[in-house]
Amino acid sequence: VPGSVPVICIDGPSASGKGTVASAVAQQLGYHLLDSGALYRITGLAALRAGIPIDAEHASQIAALISQMDIQFGADQRVRLDGEDISLAIRSEEAGTNASLVSALPAVRQALVQAQHDFRQLPGLVADGRDMGTVIFPLAPLKVYLTASAAKRAERRHKQLIEKGIPATIADLRADLEARDARDMNRATAPLHAAQDAFLLDNSEMSVDNAVAQVLSWWEKRQPFG
Ligand code: DC
Repeated sequence: VPGSVPVICIDGPSASGKGTVASAVAQQLGYHLLDSGALYRITGLAALRAGIPIDAEHASQIAALISQMDIQFGADQRVRLDGEDISLAIRSEEAGTNASLVSALPAVRQALVQAQHDFRQLPGLVADGRDMGTVIFPLAPLKVYLTASAAKRAERRHKQLIEKGIPATIADLRADLEARDARDMNRATAPLHAAQDAFLLDNSEMSVDNAVAQVLSWWEKRQPFG
């Protein structure tokens, strides 16, 4: 009975810590995890590889591509597209920008709805993205809108990249994030904004552990969910 499977939505701008917080909350509760951004990243990569330009004119071609993609999210955190491990390829800044571009196309968003709903399975789901609480799971019993200042987000992203040996400057990253925020917030379909019933959590000055604890405490207060 899909209606009885609880969903926790964690939405917010790029690099706000959603992925880290969502995965920790899912782990603590033993729930499934939906990284919806990965679906848009994979779609962007698939379009690029198929040589399809990412623009409104080619939206239906890209949407058609989605029905042919064989995507696997492994228990090992690896993501596979048609059997190929693309976990690293979808994490680059360029892949993020392409994801943001494909995600602005309504036909693409529509083509990914069912795949996202399919993640809703017992004992529960933690869903991370931009429109989890507003569009995909509007009746979810807990919605969190996770933000951090652009300066903090750029700083954290920079640290992650440098640790992986990928060169980047904080100024470039911040410009990139702000451009992506603007596109994600101003598009016509499912723009990024907090659901009316979302709890706002600004984690600019907060550790990951504290952000996770806050979400879990809101979740406890929601029991029994609904
Ligand atoms: O969360 P992320 O950085 O992996 O997301 C990449 C892009 O995908 C993001 O810039 C906008 C888009 N996206 C979206 O439109 N809706 C979602 N639910 C998740 C991501």
